[in-house]
Amino acid sequence: MDKIEIIGGVRLRGEVTISGAKNAVLPLMTAAILSSGENIIHNVPHLRDVRTMGSLLAHIGFGFHLEDNRIILKSKTITSVDAPYDFVKTMRASVLVLGPLLARTGQAKVSLPGGCAIGARPINLHIMGLEKMGAKIKLSEGYIEASAKRLKGAKIYFDIPTVTGTENLMMAAALADGTTVLENAACEPEVADLANALISMGADIEGAGTRVIKINGVNRLKPLDYTVIPDRIETATFLAAAAITQGDVKIKGSRPGHLEAIINKLKEAGVKITQKNDKLSVKGPERLLSVDIKTMPYPGFPTDMQAQFMAMMALADGTSIITENIFENRFMHVAELRRMGADIVVEGSTATVKGVSSLKGAPVMATDLRASASLVVAGLAAKGATVIDRVYHLDRGYEKIEEKLKTLGAKIRRIK
Ligand code: EPZ
Repeated sequence: MDKIEIIGGVRLRGEVTISGAKNAVLPLMTAAILSSGENIIHNVPHLRDVRTMGSLLAHIGFGFHLEDNRIILKSKTITSVDAPYDFVKTMRASVLVLGPLLARTGQAKVSLPGGCAIGARPINLHIMGLEKMGAKIKLSEGYIEASAKRLKGAKIYFDIPTVTGTENLMMAAALADGTTVLENAACEPEVADLANALISMGADIEGAGTRVIKINGVNRLKPLDYTVIPDRIETATFLAAAAITQGDVKIKGSRPGHLEAIINKLKEAGVKITQKNDKLSVKGPERLLSVDIKTMPYPGFPTDMQAQFMAMMALADGTSIITENIFENRFMHVAELRRMGADIVVEGSTATVKGVSSLKGAPVMATDLRASASLVVAGLAAKGATVIDRVYHLDRGYEKIEEKLKTLGAKIRRIK
């Protein structure tokens, strides 16, 4: 298992370019199931999850080819309709084949995702929606077995805005017979990006990016030829890295409009941020100010930035209250940050972070993707060496993070 070693205390300086968004490219890849022919996706990040999704689609019958930052997905015929447990257990986003397979072939057999470090993460709302659209769904031996001659349009209300639930049902509805309305839908930019891609394939969708999405089903869709949006969480992670190291960094290829809640909170913490088109300039203050955050569905402060923001607040002047409202167990990074000298107390879904004057490098362990990103952010500012174990978590969602940080002057290396 690879490790990453960081010698902290370097002020980051220079320029970095953001890669395509992990949480946009994964649903785009499964959207390819909805058409037959050659699908091309551009600006694809080289991530473990992209390769996992590629091998799942290959298992289903696709020709999958990743070269430079382009994916070619050829789908003449679908030869299998199942997503085995081996894929789903390593990547929950595998569940995104459920809606498209049902819409394209009338059947799907997808392993129920197991538990996950950050929470139970059920998919009951995905299933509820598909049943409303006429799918017959059986749960047996850990698998969802779904069938539908042809899905019918339906009115679906989500108790909770679910990102992949909205994406699964939007894809299913694109080929359904009639109109589907998704209410209390997720508004994340990745959902809107998927809708734009489906529209470019010939789908009839309006309202994506708002709480109500209307989809008029069509009979066929053309193959995809689409460019992935920049990763807003990677962008925010680099903003945090510059902020915590009193850095002076230029971030290129971003979409600042996708991370307004984060930029507002960073400015409240004393970080200087200016934006011009796809460029963000960020200057970290001598000492960060403490700021309270509550994670919320988009456009609120994203749960995927909670851990990285907490690492910053561990060194801020004052006390910050961080409330995690999306997942029930997304404080796995707290124990590791405390090993580095952070003063954090967790009670239920709230963490109280008392800023300390310095953190000390230590051997720490990554438990999930964003927790590992928070350890990197903390390690960049800590005195001495931080060695992060189980960095395969990090590789799931950050393309070449140590190379990008090295170009900004960080003393970081991967230990094979
Ligand atoms: C997506 O996960 C992202 N993953 C997650 O990013 C992100 O943290 C999450 O949205 C929230 O923004 C991808 O897009 C591939 P949800 P998803 O369904 O869709 C509950 C990362 O780090 N819920 O929006 O699985 C659920 O338990 C990953 O990149 C149900 O109860 O999240 C959670 O509490 C981590 N029933 C809340 O809704 C359901 O059927 C939001 O979950 C579905 C969800």
